[in-house]
Amino acid sequence: MDRPPSDQIVCVVGAGYVGLVTGICLADSGRTVHLVEIEPRRLELLRSGRCPIHEPGLEEMLRRLQAAGRVHVTGDLAVGVRDAGIVMIAVGTPPTEDGEADLSQVRDAVASAGANAARGAVIAVKSTIPPGTTASMVGSRLAAGFPLVSCPEFLREGSAIHDFNNPTRIVVGGADRTACDRVAALFEHLGAPVIVTDSTSAEMVKYGTNTFLALKISFINEIAHLCELTGAEVSAVADGMGMDPRVGRAFLNAGLGFGGSCFPKDVRALEAAAAEHGHSFWMLKSAIEVNLMQRRRFVAKVREAVGGSLDGTRLGVLGLAFKPGTDDLRQAPALDVIRHLEKMGATVTATDPAALEGARPLLAGTRLVTEAYECVRGTDAVVLVTEWPEYRDLDWARVGQTVARRIVVDGRNCLDGAELARLGFAYHSVGRRPSLPD
Ligand SMILES: NC(=O)c1ccc[n+]([C@@H]2O[C@H](COP(=O)([O-])OP(=O)(O)OC[C@H]3O[C@@H](n4cnc5c(N)ncnc54)[C@H](O)[C@@H]3O)[C@@H](O)[C@H]2O)c1
Repeated sequence: MDRPPSDQIVCVVGAGYVGLVTGICLADSGRTVHLVEIEPRRLELLRSGRCPIHEPGLEEMLRRLQAAGRVHVTGDLAVGVRDAGIVMIAVGTPPTEDGEADLSQVRDAVASAGANAARGAVIAVKSTIPPGTTASMVGSRLAAGFPLVSCPEFLREGSAIHDFNNPTRIVVGGADRTACDRVAALFEHLGAPVIVTDSTSAEMVKYGTNTFLALKISFINEIAHLCELTGAEVSAVADGMGMDPRVGRAFLNAGLGFGGSCFPKDVRALEAAAAEHGHSFWMLKSAIEVNLMQRRRFVAKVREAVGGSLDGTRLGVLGLAFKPGTDDLRQAPALDVIRHLEKMGATVTATDPAALEGARPLLAGTRLVTEAYECVRGTDAVVLVTEWPEYRDLDWARVGQTVARRIVVDGRNCLDGAELARLGFAYHSVGRRPSLPD
């Protein structure tokens, strides 16, 4: 009789932001990892030891672990899964036109893994999939009789290695307890609390977490708007609220709202899943509306800051990625904001430390430059969209020498307004009174 495959060998299907980090970090903990990727550009880069995504520290680890023979990259799923005791599915679940999660990549990957994995292997889905998906795949025998479990991922881009190695909890769900325990054992060395439950609950934990955080962001943005109307300062309000442990300070930063590949898509997907079950999830509808409105309000704020019309103005936009530390432009507020500013007559120059290459095809009419000082030269206003530390640390006195007008509109409340006012800037932010020069 064949020996069951070893759980020391893990196959990760899909080498994107989640799969690549998961695979490399598992290899770093002593496993042998087979990374399967079908996208030719990503595959070629990975084969030559280069990281196809911007994630601090990841490329160095990839090279080290490839050299040590612990990470193997392949484009052939059948080869990747062959000896693996655990197959992790980390493919994309992008939104459909209607906002539902497109599960075709997950279903294809599970079916291919089911057709090729060794008897005794466990298939674990790391991708974010709506509650009930794993159970339905087990029911449809898509996994060809293999134990199928849900093991949602909570890492954040930009601090993904740290997050992987310091999880707040490990959640594994499935009908087969032994299979769940084998997947949980992969993370045992990290010392996090483990929740083993059914697959639908595990999937719901992921959606509940992401959508709750999105709600928090939209909530504080509504409070910020009310602060502007009443004269309160949202930073002080958020600090005061956040000191209450029942509320918590995290995700209470007012600003341009949420973007990226997860929050917008997951909020819409859970709302769609609720609708499918005949339930209108009103809070999620509101969170989406508020998030979009926040971008419009910001564009209006820029318009007011330059004197009421954007027509013929020159603007320098700092930051394109949806957040610092990543090159990810999926649902990035910057894209929406820049398109609106341009539609209203502004000429925009923009910059970003990591996302310029990806932005080129998305912002055809925008001048994109690598240097922040070059970006703001001769502009009527500096518009900060992504709070990269390098923008906080700019020599703002030097910026003041190069701009046409000293106006800053800070969409992330990350700059020192009093200092900027001292340097002669009119400083506008979100939910706070403007700081104006004497
Ligand atoms: N990005 C995040 O911060 C994050 C965090 C937690 C959870 N998630 C979830 O994890 C999942 C993956 O997200 P991501 O951001 O890594 O996506 P991604 O698009 O960056 O990566 C997915 C990768 O899978 C590859 N792929 C698709 N089908 C394949 C197949 N059959 N064989 C091999 N490779 C295949 C794609 O080419 C792509 O490179 C999504 O469900 C997402 O919601 C993402």
